[in-house]
Amino acid sequence: MDVKKVLLGVTGGIAAYKSAEICRALQKKGIDVRVIMTENATRFISPLTFVALSGHDVHSDLFEDPKEPILHIDLARDSDLFLIAPCTANMLAKIANGIADDLMSSTALAMASPVIVAPAMNVHMYENAATQHNLCVCRQRGIHIVEPAQGRLACGDEGRGKLADVDDIVSYASSVLFSIDDASDETCKEEDDHDLCGMKILITAGPTVEPIDAVRSITNRSSGKMGYAIADCAKRRGADVVLVSGPVSIDAPAGVDLIKVETAEEMLSSCEDPFTQSDIAVFCAAVADLRPLKSFDRKLKKGIDDEALSTIDLVPNPDIIATLAAKKRDDQVVVGFAAETDDVIENAKQKLNAKHADMIVANKVGGGLAFGCDDDEVSFVTEDDVLSLPLMDKAQIADRLLDQVLKC
Ligand code: C5P
Repeated sequence: MDVKKVLLGVTGGIAAYKSAEICRALQKKGIDVRVIMTENATRFISPLTFVALSGHDVHSDLFEDPKEPILHIDLARDSDLFLIAPCTANMLAKIANGIADDLMSSTALAMASPVIVAPAMNVHMYENAATQHNLCVCRQRGIHIVEPAQGRLACGDEGRGKLADVDDIVSYASSVLFSIDDASDETCKEEDDHDLCGMKILITAGPTVEPIDAVRSITNRSSGKMGYAIADCAKRRGADVVLVSGPVSIDAPAGVDLIKVETAEEMLSSCEDPFTQSDIAVFCAAVADLRPLKSFDRKLKKGIDDEALSTIDLVPNPDIIATLAAKKRDDQVVVGFAAETDDVIENAKQKLNAKHADMIVANKVGGGLAFGCDDDEVSFVTEDDVLSLPLMDKAQIADRLLDQVLKC
């Protein structure tokens, strides 16, 4: 395999010193790292540090070498990935707006390969509507974001804005880098190429359909997009995936083991075996809570079966996740979903215990979010933490979810 080339962009924030660790960690994965810096970044950490670490010249000025007038184009062309870590609010705003007034922003605009930004800033700057808008714009344009962490910030404020963990940034970068050209490669070559290699993942997806008669049923509007995005992402990251799905109108990702079901009872019995063999189980399906006590093989007819049609007795369906997770092994990670209209985080916390889950992915439904959309706004709720992500597409949520599961 060719040596991968990462261009590491360092912007002027207090976390700039962590870029040296990022540089070293990428190199340990066999990646060739070149560094560019903003002028302000050079006030926090010397370019000499990165010259010594990377073994390459370090540039910060678009016009520093008259012999090399198109430095940003050359750098962009010669890199498989551009990772800006830390990325200041200013640089994020420039990228979101397509501004190209220095080497870093010009290179970002010229990149045809993936761009990842790891923002780091004061909590109020991060929460400012302008920054949140810029993050959304970047995301919609396919720029990857490694969200900042929560904690005590250098300025003394508490909140989200700390540069994400170096390990998280590096593992995110390498999963993007190595998934660029291996999507069709079914074999696991190196551990770092596929961080879920050798793992078995069970995923439930879509709605369940509970028959009333031959033509009528109780169901819901789940599209299956979230569960299928997780299955796709897990497969690309090297896992063996069993996808137990209710009826949906999308195709299953290549290479996953698809089990089609209709009812909640079928979903439970199809999950039992794969669950015992799984390392990770993600219960994403929108399972009908209730089913008709009696279902008819024929079509009930108006005028003849009015009583059966007007009074449908319902009985509870088994809770699939709660049933299976009650017997989970210590080394298994179980993830549930909670779609709520109100008190989203509070309800998710209650579900953690009720469902014996290690993590609940909470999302607010209504206002066009969740069911059927390509984008969603979710929070990962665990016993000790709540990580709320801004609006992003379901493929990116899937990636972040699996990153979080690996931490569990
Ligand atoms: O209780 P609620 O339906 O809100 O819980 C949602 C979570 O529980 C989801 O992860 C869903 O897949 C799972 N679930 C289940 N079996 C049910 C109902 C929900 O596995 N009968």
